[in-house]
Amino acid sequence: MQPTNTTQKYNTGRSLLFHFVKGSKRFFGAAVLFSMAVTVLDLFNPKIIAFTVDSVIGGKEADLHGFLGDLLADIGGPAYLRTHLYILAVFVAAVALLGAVSRYFFRLMNAKGQEKLVRKMRDELYDHIIHLPLTWHNANQTGDIIQRCTSDVDTVRRFLAEQLINLMRVTILIFFAIIFMSRIHMGLTLVAVALVPVIILYSFFFHSRIGQSFMKVDEMEGRLSAMVQENLTGVRVVRAFGRESYEKERFGKFNELFMNSWVRLMRLLAIFWATGDFVSGLQVLLIVSFGAVLCVRGDLTAGEYIAFISYNAMLTWPVRMLGRVISEMSKAGISIDRIRYIMNSVEELDAEHTQTPEMNADIVFEHVSYAYESYPEQEKAEDPEDTGKRKKKDREEAAAQKPEPKRNENPNVLTDVSFTIPAGSTVGILGGTGSGKSTLMHLMDRLLELPEDGGRITIGGCDIRNIDRAYLRKNIGIVLQEPYLFSGTLAENIALTSERMELDDVRAAARVAAFDETAMKFSKGYETYVGERGVTLSGGQKQRTAIAQMLLRKPPIMVFDDSLSAVDAETDAKIRAALREESRDTTTILIAHRISTLMHADRIIVLDHGRIAESGIHEELLEKGGLYRKIYDLQQPA
Ligand SMILES: Nc1ncnc2c1ncn2[C@@H]1O[C@H](COP(=O)(O)OP(=O)(O)OP(=O)(O)O)[C@@H](O)[C@H]1O
Ligand SMILES: [Mg+2]
Repeated sequence: MQPTNTTQKYNTGRSLLFHFVKGSKRFFGAAVLFSMAVTVLDLFNPKIIAFTVDSVIGGKEADLHGFLGDLLADIGGPAYLRTHLYILAVFVAAVALLGAVSRYFFRLMNAKGQEKLVRKMRDELYDHIIHLPLTWHNANQTGDIIQRCTSDVDTVRRFLAEQLINLMRVTILIFFAIIFMSRIHMGLTLVAVALVPVIILYSFFFHSRIGQSFMKVDEMEGRLSAMVQENLTGVRVVRAFGRESYEKERFGKFNELFMNSWVRLMRLLAIFWATGDFVSGLQVLLIVSFGAVLCVRGDLTAGEYIAFISYNAMLTWPVRMLGRVISEMSKAGISIDRIRYIMNSVEELDAEHTQTPEMNADIVFEHVSYAYESYPEQEKAEDPEDTGKRKKKDREEAAAQKPEPKRNENPNVLTDVSFTIPAGSTVGILGGTGSGKSTLMHLMDRLLELPEDGGRITIGGCDIRNIDRAYLRKNIGIVLQEPYLFSGTLAENIALTSERMELDDVRAAARVAAFDETAMKFSKGYETYVGERGVTLSGGQKQRTAIAQMLLRKPPIMVFDDSLSAVDAETDAKIRAALREESRDTTTILIAHRISTLMHADRIIVLDHGRIAESGIHEELLEKGGLYRKIYDLQQPA
């Protein structure tokens, strides 16, 4: 299995959208209904005005039908209303109140729907991302993943909660407004509607342009934040190399480009609003003048004239919005595709019937070969000028797809490695930097997946490919070469993987790691806060925290990947002595550059460029006079 495979679980953006919207559908449904109610109630107002002007004030026969018509006739027609104007006022107030209630529920339902949707999206994305294989994380930039989980999620939310619902509302509004207008005067309606397609098209094209501009701004923002993130993470390096002014200049350049892209966007928007207002103004002018002519000729009453103008005014906004909504839909399409890429990436999957064998057993590496996958180079934030040069389509394609990893291009990091680690024994692995030691351990832990044709690793005769991954990792404790501490207290970091935290246990583990004394000297002891990534600790202290963390778990297999490199020789010796006591029946793998660290191992394996150069016990290897001997001689004090 290629660990960075993608599936077509969600083969279209729409299927993923349907999946996400499952829990919030009823809220959105209710929001649509209430928004329709709002629209219908809004449409009442011009009717009331027309009725008041023509029938109540002007004394014209009321053309009310149905229930309202009967009611009016019962109480004595418009003449009665003229003397009892408060009835009209109550009616208007009732309509307004109903409108307000509907608006409230529309907003509430819409908010609930979108927050539920966004929460589901975030939860599922996060859950998926933390289960994706390490190789996937190596191949994808953190900043990019974060952007997909934040701004792309937000774009999808806006699309559903604002644009789609608006689209429905506006369509209904336009539909009914046109019907009501045509019932007032057909000719005038044709005049009003004539410009509608023009405005929609104009708005659509403009917003497509604006959308492209927005994407550039987004891209610039992504680059800017990626740069800041990298610099803040590497703030020590920036300081140590005195790169502040260089970095500031680089930031300044990007910041200026970012600003320029915003200004460009704002200029476009300014043109759009100004011309849009002008075209809408023209349309109003047409209606007002034609309507006035019709009024003078007696084809239109004053009330109808006012109502018509109100309906027309109601149309102006929605029509312009329609163009915008249509054009922004493409943006949501891109975002959902970018999210789909993550959701379609294959999580670490266990075999069908996983096993949980006894782990205090022999570990056998059989003809293990491994090459890392290579990825086409990631887009760098180095070239600010190339923004916008690529065509929109290219950008969209790049956003949706990700480079496929290629394994075969790379040379083997490990070649035909075979050896056995008897249960309970201690094995040392020695080798130059880059000889494949860490890779070997990550394969054993299945952080890296051994390809089918790459040999096999067995524990107690069971291929690790068939062992439940969580079980395997729980039983193999690796002190990583670069330990990573979380922000929190020292005790929390040591007890990271244990459910219960007893200070005595924490201290016992720290004692073996020769760390207890040091920790107790800190002003707050084990309650000392270690900053983000443990920045407040020295390299050796971090390593010993990581060792204590593993010892607390007491896994049956322990791996120390160069874990004593940052402690002095004396502490090294102390830890090893304590460990020997502690780990009598634990299988221990010691990786080191220093021969003194692993010379007492039951067996020492010397790796050279991914192959086993020699193996045996310390004395044998010395006698052989090979690579081990050479390293030994180099490390003897002159
Ligand atoms: N994620 C990766 N992608 C591609 N190549 C990698 C990756 N990680 C390591 N390598 C390469 O694999 C080779 C072996 O790396 P590995 O980390 O196993 O060496 P090592 O023996 O642990 O070295 P050291 O003693 O410096 O820790 C190196 O040449 C390294 O460049
Ligand atoms: Mg290593």
